[in-house]
Amino acid sequence: MAVKKILHYPNPSLLKTSLEIEKFDENLAILSRDLVDTMYDADGVGLAAPQLGINKRIFVMDCSREDEENDCRIVINPKIEHQSKELGSYKEGCLSIPGITEEISRPKIIQVVYQDLNGGFQRASYDGLWSTCFQHELDHLNGKLFIDHLRPMKKILVKNKMKKSSKKGRE
Ligand code: CO
Repeated sequence: MAVKKILHYPNPSLLKTSLEIEKFDENLAILSRDLVDTMYDADGVGLAAPQLGINKRIFVMDCSREDEENDCRIVINPKIEHQSKELGSYKEGCLSIPGITEEISRPKIIQVVYQDLNGGFQRASYDGLWSTCFQHELDHLNGKLFIDHLRPMKKILVKNKMKKSSKKGRE
């Protein structure tokens, strides 16, 4: 069990584009376990490597409901192959932006391809919260945060709120 420290906005690691993973070795398996342990410890539904300061294209997610068994997916080098025109919206939050949640619209259904820990290709279709989470985590690998989806005025309001709350945290 290795619970790591989750970086907070505006740490530079969260704003960088992460690199494609080429080596499917023991180090990658260790990183994936750290991500899973840290995500569950923080009660999150998803966590991407840049949030631990590692700019590699891997994230984990588990959007199973409380009355379901854990269903953790380890997602490496993800790509969205198709997305629906229909949008879905969820109140999103992020472990790297504590205390802020905002309604965000994204494509409702996505078809994706990614690699597993052995480098094998996996295809999947996601809907609902799973789809939102996949897109939110993929954004992290491109240095993008959910607040970047807000309209410009709204984004300024949210950023001011974040500045205030981080000041309070230091007091
Ligand atoms: Co996030």
